[in-house]
Amino acid sequence: MPHVIIDHPLIQHKLSILRDRETPVRDFRALCTEISMLMAFEAMRDLPLEVAQVDTPVAPARVRRLAGKKLALVAILRAGLAMVDGILDLVPSARVGHLGMYRDPKSLSPVGYYAKLPSDIAERDVFVLDPMLATGGSAVAALDRIKEEGAERVRLLCILAAPEGVRAVERAHPEVEIVLAALDERLDEHGYIVPGLGDAGDRIYGTR
Ligand code: PRP
Ligand code: URA
Repeated sequence: MPHVIIDHPLIQHKLSILRDRETPVRDFRALCTEISMLMAFEAMRDLPLEVAQVDTPVAPARVRRLAGKKLALVAILRAGLAMVDGILDLVPSARVGHLGMYRDPKSLSPVGYYAKLPSDIAERDVFVLDPMLATGGSAVAALDRIKEEGAERVRLLCILAAPEGVRAVERAHPEVEIVLAALDERLDEHGYIVPGLGDAGDRIYGTR
């Protein structure tokens, strides 16, 4: 499944501020929320609709509404949390799962420390959320886990990616659509995305 880059001017403008090292924590968090909402708006373009009827104050109207497709958002902790609220504003009845994992700084391999997924995730359309797709280790581990639970239709929403991460996910999970706001040049020797935006978790929570 090829990746998709959402090249909307509002997303690209907000991303330019997100990347800036001078952007304060509070603005950084708000921008993650806004960008995620805009990305989800585009990524959910294909949600099925059904025809219904409502009575307006004037007359009956034939309307189209969401067909009640069940959705699940899965945030990869910590940084993925910053993407949840903006998307929940769009789809408030989505269930939310959490997968805790951090990258070992030497091996760059993901270390899992928490998992709580909706019990009926196998019946839901799943959106996995993490602002950063670097080596792809965390995303692949998250997707492995979600697939183990039986989920079949899974998409990965990341604000930034390196080509290495996109390739790793495409190799391990070729049917998963990857939705990005930008695809950067490369990884540096510490596994950071270049030019990237630094450590997303630290910038969201003001740690370090
Ligand atoms: C960051 C990011 C991803 C991961 C990406 O999390 O949010 O989860 O790195 O790197 P990868 O593609 O090489 O796996 P980090 O491990 O820094 O944890 P944190 O969100 O708790 O800070
Ligand atoms: N995780 C981050 O938060 N930033 C990167 O550039 C790479 C991994």
